Amino acid sequence: MIYDVVVVGGGIAGLMAAIEAKRVDNSVAVITKGNIFKSNSAMASGGINAVLNTNDRTNLKSHIQDTFNSSKGLAEINAITYMCQKASHIIHKLEEYGVNFDKDEDGNILQRPFGGGSINRTCYVGDKTGFAITQALIKKAKEVGVTFLVNNYVLNLATYKTSISGVICLRREDTSVLVYPAKSVVLAGGGYAGIFRGNSTNAQDYTGDLLAVCLRAGLILKDMEFLQFHPTGIAKTNYLVTEAARGEGGYLINSDGKRFINELETRDKIAKAILEQQQMGKEVFIDLRHLGTEKIQQKLPSLYNAAYNQVGIDISKELLKIKPVAHYSMGGVDTNMTETKIKGLFVCGEMASNGVHGANRLGGNSLLEGTVFGELAGIKAYEYSKEAEFLPIDYNVVIKDIQNIDKIFEGDTTKNFNAIRISLGKVMFEKVGIIRSKKSLIQAFDYVKYLRRESYSLHCINKEKRNNVELISILELRNALEISEALILAAKKRKESRGAHFREDYPKE
Ligand code: FUM
Repeated sequence: MIYDVVVVGGGIAGLMAAIEAKRVDNSVAVITKGNIFKSNSAMASGGINAVLNTNDRTNLKSHIQDTFNSSKGLAEINAITYMCQKASHIIHKLEEYGVNFDKDEDGNILQRPFGGGSINRTCYVGDKTGFAITQALIKKAKEVGVTFLVNNYVLNLATYKTSISGVICLRREDTSVLVYPAKSVVLAGGGYAGIFRGNSTNAQDYTGDLLAVCLRAGLILKDMEFLQFHPTGIAKTNYLVTEAARGEGGYLINSDGKRFINELETRDKIAKAILEQQQMGKEVFIDLRHLGTEKIQQKLPSLYNAAYNQVGIDISKELLKIKPVAHYSMGGVDTNMTETKIKGLFVCGEMASNGVHGANRLGGNSLLEGTVFGELAGIKAYEYSKEAEFLPIDYNVVIKDIQNIDKIFEGDTTKNFNAIRISLGKVMFEKVGIIRSKKSLIQAFDYVKYLRRESYSLHCINKEKRNNVELISILELRNALEISEALILAAKKRKESRGAHFREDYPKE
């Protein structure tokens, strides 16, 4: 099981990277911890930003400027410019791969407004854009001969001197620890917003596993305090109420029936405004009734079904109660246009801090960033692998991983990892959420430290080696705690308010 290029992550960034890295004479594998159809990318609904006419310098400049403005001055203009310039090419590539963007009668791709955008530039497939793109990319990856290694949980990286030599995984099927040697590796494992379980659009296992892996490999995590709260999740279920709902004309109203903010402001401002309404004892709703059934069915069919099936609300006739929810990680592994300090290791997608988003990501830029930098990572990983050799694997690290797994199986526990996981999500939302202070951050830090100690005395109650869910949950929890600590420390250190990071004790930017 040797591959020239190994890609970890089955979202759009990983899939793009794998497709680009694959050539007729090499081998490329995509490793995913679950099945290939599950990723945050597939859940991103509203659209992907692009200025489609590459000669339109004015609108290209405005995309760059809106992205930079939204970042609150912390983004890297070169990275943003690269992304925005590539957008049109990416949309056409996606179309070639089979993505059927919504079009007008003349066949022109339709574009909707999104928050913080000075013009309509968000291309879409109804309200299931991410799903449509991932489906097309999976199909394309299979066509070009990419191998999928599903249900493999990455434990650590194998490095030789300053270069990558492979990936150490736990095969969930039988709990064996395996090494996949590779000449180059792309990591695209998503972010850490799932740590805020109970208040997050992410699946509960999107908790920054690969960021913890990178930290252990000596890489730097950057901008960890910048965690985006999407203004609108269904209050009861956390399901993403896509920004497209506001882009298509939906209003936010409080329980007095009053609008209180421009619905197309950036997400940081809207999320905070909603929280302030809640703190005044008001409930907040999205009102889509005036859009009419036909428009809702045409533009927001997934939201219509989700609201109806999850909470019994017909959004064409009734108000839908919403709340802000943790959605996207701007922070991540410090990268220079996908490159890291480990030679042959490239990082892209949500887990990368590549300078594009700064303190607050512009809505519609995540699918764009994933595809653009996924493509770039794939090209670089291919080029690197062409010149590289397979390097030795340090089996001391592998043995440590095996011993670590054995220890989790040995012994008994009275502690409930699920309860710990739930309380972590609750404390992170309450103390490290939309509004933070030194006091709340210290409280969270102490609690996370306590949970970290507890997590090392957790053992599997079920000793079955086949698909042991407890084992993965314990490993995920340990990583989530490590990443929570990084987030809190960064938030404590940033004594100001900027973008998604609001300190009530330092309210000024
Ligand atoms: O609201 C949404 O549809 C999410 C899009 C995004 O995160 O960019």
